[in-house]
Amino acid sequence: MGKPVALTGIKPTGTPHIGNYFGAIKPALELANDYDARYFIADYHALNTMKEPKELKRLTFEIAATWLAFGLNPESTLFYRQSRVPQTFELTTFLSAFTPKGFMNRAHAYKAVVAQNTQEERDLDDGVNMGLYTYPILMAADILLFDTDLVPVGKDQKQHIEIAADIAQTINYHYQKEILRVPKPLIQESTELILGLDGRKMSKSYQNVIPLFATSKNLRKTIMKIVTNSQAVEEPKNPEGCTIFTLFKLFSNKIEQDELKERYLAGGMGWGHAKEALFEKMDQFLSPFREKYNQFIQDPSYIEKNLIEGEKKARDIAEKTMTKIRTIAGFY
Ligand code: TRP
Repeated sequence: MGKPVALTGIKPTGTPHIGNYFGAIKPALELANDYDARYFIADYHALNTMKEPKELKRLTFEIAATWLAFGLNPESTLFYRQSRVPQTFELTTFLSAFTPKGFMNRAHAYKAVVAQNTQEERDLDDGVNMGLYTYPILMAADILLFDTDLVPVGKDQKQHIEIAADIAQTINYHYQKEILRVPKPLIQESTELILGLDGRKMSKSYQNVIPLFATSKNLRKTIMKIVTNSQAVEEPKNPEGCTIFTLFKLFSNKIEQDELKERYLAGGMGWGHAKEALFEKMDQFLSPFREKYNQFIQDPSYIEKNLIEGEKKARDIAEKTMTKIRTIAGFY
């Protein structure tokens, strides 16, 4: 028996930010110690919203360099681009034949667009391409192709994993055989706690993100934009629920947290000082990773080489799954 499989993907739709690291990359890299890890770049999922070729390529390499900078080991972790595993798209077609349309109608991402259209009195299908509509089927193919046991994801992706599990069970039941492994989500509850500049959850769609690899100077500028209330310098301040303090906690130990907490409560500390403290900690933590990231980004052929090697292995695994499916379904 091999190790259980952990699989996850990141869409290259934006420059990697603090939320991506704490919500997805860090927990996934920890999991890679005990699991057979398979981490990929979901570039076809990105295509639904990202159609500029140069941008797609740039963001794909940024995500790849990010994984490598934080220590993904491409020798032990399968590391690949979704687009380079064509069996994914064959499996998508196969799964589609077993997926009730109602599942897609109920999928959150699609429903959110429909709700927005309803509210703004537009045609319900406005801005909905079929890629968005069938997004969960492609994602199920990503997962089911690789014998996945566990999918580490943020809360917002839970429904997608449930859909994948449901489709797998339907197929297993139909053929009366455990042909597809049924995946489980591993929900990163902490993702919700990573606040953006405006105090809402950090998300590209809110435009409130703190990029992981900005220069020190730009990182500082970004942190200074964190929204605060108008309390005067001399007033004591409440660290609980404060965006600055919440972010500070991610980068510091208990002693450092208690120190800053005291400065909050004592009064005499302005928001600028708190931001400065956050910047110092964050910059200290990020700078060694930033250095590695920049090395990787400047050497795209190294990234490419690692991806290509991963993609060969990925296609071998994928082809085994597809052979099983084609055989049982009567295509062979
Ligand atoms: N939908 C995921 C997201 O937006 C990305 C993704 C695509 C994914 N395929 C996947 C995540 C398979 C886990 C497993 O974050």
